[in-house]
Amino acid sequence: MKLASGYKAFWEAAHKNYPDQTKPGGNLDWIIEISSVVNAECSDRFAKPSARGWNSYFHAKLFPDRSTKVGALAQTYKGLLNIKSPFDLHLYTRLIWELQPRTILELGSLQGGSALWFADQLSVLCENKGEVHSFDINTKCIHPDATHPMINFHQVDLSNIANFDENLLNNLPHPWLVVDDAHIQVFPIFSHLGQFLVSGDYYVIEDDPMRADREIIDGLALVEQSGFLIDTYYTDAFGTNLTCAPNAWLRKA
Ligand SMILES: C[S@@+](CC[C@H](N)C(=O)[O-])C[C@H]1O[C@@H](n2cnc3c(N)ncnc32)[C@H](O)[C@@H]1O
Repeated sequence: MKLASGYKAFWEAAHKNYPDQTKPGGNLDWIIEISSVVNAECSDRFAKPSARGWNSYFHAKLFPDRSTKVGALAQTYKGLLNIKSPFDLHLYTRLIWELQPRTILELGSLQGGSALWFADQLSVLCENKGEVHSFDINTKCIHPDATHPMINFHQVDLSNIANFDENLLNNLPHPWLVVDDAHIQVFPIFSHLGQFLVSGDYYVIEDDPMRADREIIDGLALVEQSGFLIDTYYTDAFGTNLTCAPNAWLRKA
């Protein structure tokens, strides 16, 4: 796992070399605030779901009006739908670089645009080229343009956990990044796949946590019992929980 580091050293060097700019009110004042946000080395970045706030405003915060939502969700990548908010696209880029995943498991392929985006991110950001395994009940929607040597699409009905190929899961190299964007049996699937994750792997649950209802809060309590913590370096990068996966960028401890 890589760490975005060196902010303290950068700040000290800036003080030394640009004293005018770093005095109170100087041009680089804002660096203090930035470094407190981007500093991956902070010791309290991992939080228990039970220690985090929940509210019903997650959705409104991410999509302050209808046109923001339409614009964000109508994004395309290489001409294919890639339904992720701009904030989340950036967060995944950051996580993929930091984690260096060798496997990305995506639940919900749609056109294959997001799998294609993940594969391209892996090829640019990772030293060991990984693989994307994308699962969907309706593989007929996958566009031929989503074909990529690092992507495997699997036709699976996620409403039955027994449909996962355990042999495949047992043999995929770690670290893993799992992205649940299918919205089917979110927590039963989490519990099932969670057994295959190892320490340091990540599991992101998109969209459903924005509901912040009893099912979600109870589900994330189970997540905590399974030994996962929220990585606030991701959930709070743009302000608390400004992501389509509020309180749900999860790292196996
Ligand atoms: C929100 S879309 C995925 C979007 C895609 N990951 C992206 O970012 O562009 C949800 C997908 O879940 C799939 N899905 C719905 N029910 C499913 C099921 N029972 N098993 C597997 N996939 C299912 C749908 O076919 C759909 O493609």
